[in-house]
Amino acid sequence: MKVSVDEEACIGCELCVTNCPEGFEMDGEVAKPKANPLPPEAEECAKQAAEDCPTDAITVE
Ligand code: F3S
Repeated sequence: MKVSVDEEACIGCELCVTNCPEGFEMDGEVAKPKANPLPPEAEECAKQAAEDCPTDAITVE
């Protein structure tokens, strides 16, 4: 699964990193995917992180 974080939209709340550490890490002020594509074991929480992101900065496909 491919995942991307819109750096313009991300406000650095770290919710995705907290809830899905397998999928995301902080890169300075913004989050970034740990890998692309993400490994299967990170897919479920990455989808949830995309739903929960307050600014809808995460796209999964
Ligand atoms: Fe940024 Fe959304 Fe994560 S604002 S830190 S991509 S939850």
